[in-house]
Amino acid sequence: MNRHTHKKTDTGILDKPIMLVGMMGTGKSHIGKALAAHLEVGFYDSDDEIIKAGGLSINEIFELYGEAKFRETESRTILALMEKTPCVIATGGGCLTTPSTLQAVKDKALSIWLQTDIPHILKRLEHARNRPLLQSDDPQSVLEDLMAKRKHLYAQADIHITTHENDTHETLRRVIDAMTG
Ligand code: S3P
Repeated sequence: MNRHTHKKTDTGILDKPIMLVGMMGTGKSHIGKALAAHLEVGFYDSDDEIIKAGGLSINEIFELYGEAKFRETESRTILALMEKTPCVIATGGGCLTTPSTLQAVKDKALSIWLQTDIPHILKRLEHARNRPLLQSDDPQSVLEDLMAKRKHLYAQADIHITTHENDTHETLRRVIDAMTG
């Protein structure tokens, strides 16, 4: 496949921000970066932008200000990033729980849900210490609970891609096929 095909053809796929949504540990940043490189557009990770702007880690923001404050900052950050079209944005796993973010994503983005089952997420995040919601004795129950509460939000994304196995090349190919399909 010619990597310039998508940019040069008038498919309109770059008219909107392309947004990766889904649970933590599903590869949104990894795939997002690869997709942005393929499409030759900018890549943004909403968590990274929040960290850069505030000079605090996500753990510190949760600890000092709480989740509600984090969600406000996250929503503002994501809405601002969406103005940078053409671009690919990897979002934080809980962003769609904020109604204004969900609405903006539905109205203005091409959204891609990366869907990974919980055993694979657990394995990928086994050593991660930067997910405040998973600092629990029972991360599996936390993930199951979050997934149950969020699945209907993720399901509103335009494109659904399963990423149980960690094959960037294959996932990227499936994402591009679905986008240009
Ligand atoms: C969160 C996911 C994280 C980060 C924060 C909260 C969530 O982002 O925004 O820890 O509520 O699922 P990733 O999905 O990039 O891990």
